[in-house]
Amino acid sequence: MTTTFWPNAQHWSCEIPLNTPHPRLDVLEAHGVVRLRDLDFVIPAHEYLHLEYMDWKSGGDTNFAPIATADGELDCRGFWNADNEHTDKDARFTSNAALCPTIRDYVADIGVNFGRVRTIKLEPQNYDTAIRSFHRDDNNRFNPETDGWVVRSWLELTDNPDSYMLLMDCGSDGLPDRSTEVRVPLHRGSRFVVDTQRLWHVVVHNGDAPRYALITSLESGPALDLWIANNAQ
Ligand SMILES: [Fe+2]
Repeated sequence: MTTTFWPNAQHWSCEIPLNTPHPRLDVLEAHGVVRLRDLDFVIPAHEYLHLEYMDWKSGGDTNFAPIATADGELDCRGFWNADNEHTDKDARFTSNAALCPTIRDYVADIGVNFGRVRTIKLEPQNYDTAIRSFHRDDNNRFNPETDGWVVRSWLELTDNPDSYMLLMDCGSDGLPDRSTEVRVPLHRGSRFVVDTQRLWHVVVHNGDAPRYALITSLESGPALDLWIANNAQ
């Protein structure tokens, strides 16, 4: 497929650490992503439609509703700032959490140390538009190298069978390697855990209405390994 845009070595994602000593999960070693069984219950739509959304652009025309943040305040920034070198874990629920008890309990029941929890609202974007937002995340800033590597879980809240998350591993040059492309389908209830610091990622959303998903930062370790095993496809 030809496209008018492709990341080059000057892309900011190339500055983000890739290989570190942090403990990682064996289940993610091969591909950096593992799909889970579809959620077997429905999250009520009002729990994500009626949250307080903030204007925060990441991966396209997006808005985020913070459900857990570093200090419990409604804030879309990363956990860190000049005054607070907070790792993306040990998060506290925000005022939005009371508006989405099913989502809040789903996250708490994972039983894993979680960081940022947000629902994302993404406007439609085709492949050529989405690829301009292809990027890697900075999930492990200030995370001690003896602590588990922070990864992300995804839960698709709306039903978008024609949309997918585009994933690619890094090639030897640190840029996306097309031969490693994976497309994760985004029908309602689709769930997966992905190392978004390792994999380039963006959602291609071929719909005509916004899509919503739940994104949660999780610390790698035995608890996450167990949850993945218990929810594997
Ligand atoms: Fe990202």
